[in-house]
Amino acid sequence: MQGSAEFIDGFLGEHGLPAPDAVISGIPFSTMPRAVADRIAAAIAGALAPSGRFVAYQVRPHVADYTTPYLGRPRRQWELINIPPVRVFTWTRGD
Ligand SMILES: C[S@@+](CC[C@H](N)C(=O)[O-])C[C@H]1O[C@@H](n2cnc3c(N)ncnc32)[C@H](O)[C@@H]1O
Repeated sequence: MQGSAEFIDGFLGEHGLPAPDAVISGIPFSTMPRAVADRIAAAIAGALAPSGRFVAYQVRPHVADYTTPYLGRPRRQWELINIPPVRVFTWTRGD
């Protein structure tokens, strides 16, 4: 699909897809407009299945500021076998 992740719910609906068990993303939360980043975090939180996960791999930590209000505190890890190393944030809905 081509379009903003803000509209994930519409994309899923158009294709008759169920709520996803996981959303995995490397989109740049640190450089996009704050309002867009907030809408994406809200949309992902709203789209996930119960107990679904949102996994974001990011160079910078901004995604946590946007997503924590919707999904709570993330698990934080580093993936060092990447150039450059990236932070990996994991939220599990309902945690
Ligand atoms: C650094 S690239 C990462 C590409 C790929 N995910 C990877 O890890 O190799 C960032 C990607 O985020 C996409 N992107 C930026 N804003 C977006 C948005 N609002 N919704 C969906 N994708 C977006 C860009 O089109 C670009 O493909």
